[in-house]
Amino acid sequence: MEVVVKDSYEEMSKLSAEMIAEVIRRKPRAVLGLATGSTPLGTYKELVRLHQQEGLDFSRAITFNLDEYVGLTHDHPQSYHFFMWENLFKQININAKNVHIPDGTAKDIPGFCRWYEEQIVKTGGLDLQLLGIGGNGHIAFNEPGSSLGSRTRVKTLDDKTRQDNARFFRSLNEVPKYAMTMGIGTIMDARQLILLANGAGKAEAIAKTCEGPITAIVPATIVQLHPKATIIVDKPAASKLSREYPAEPRILVLA
Ligand code: F6R
Repeated sequence: MEVVVKDSYEEMSKLSAEMIAEVIRRKPRAVLGLATGSTPLGTYKELVRLHQQEGLDFSRAITFNLDEYVGLTHDHPQSYHFFMWENLFKQININAKNVHIPDGTAKDIPGFCRWYEEQIVKTGGLDLQLLGIGGNGHIAFNEPGSSLGSRTRVKTLDDKTRQDNARFFRSLNEVPKYAMTMGIGTIMDARQLILLANGAGKAEAIAKTCEGPITAIVPATIVQLHPKATIIVDKPAASKLSREYPAEPRILVLA
């Protein structure tokens, strides 16, 4: 695991986008695991720029999103389907057939979760998984206490997560109570991880993730066991780390 501290959110986003772009340049049919939320927005903006101005080609790339709220239709403005199409997919040359996002409206949810896991394996497995982190240390919607070996399934959202995400909805009441999410085992099977965090609100969770003991109470701590993980943070998110960390990763692409 490597921790990289950047001066600003823009620099964090540029670095993560460059790392993702490098994976696609080396392997045009790369299988990318993607995240939603406010953290990766800068990364997606930069990927769009790389596509539109520098010809980064997504035509063969395959994507799997981490999670989706249960009950929100694909056209709901707060659904992760809507988010991904608005903020990335509409603006790049991805083939819609290669996009996979958990379906929170699936009638047979356990069946869908099994199918999702099978599709990841069938396409060759995730080459790179992009992650954000919750203020409570969750990754995807694996809330504190989640099994560190879990697979795609439905989780009840923590009160803290619902409160944090209420900013995107008209009221707390409207925030769904359940989400379908890749498991921690699913995420750890990816060949490379990038975890992004910005802002002082993430400082506690980042300190525990990078320097604390591995525990299901802070699910992101599992990243310490991943052989190819890069945690990219800005200075406020790094403010509770006790050690000094570099501003550049040793290597951009981990083969
Ligand atoms: C979203 C996801 C979540 C978010 C986390 C941080 O797909 O998996 O774990 O990464 O809740 O959200 P933001 O970036 O909005 O602070």
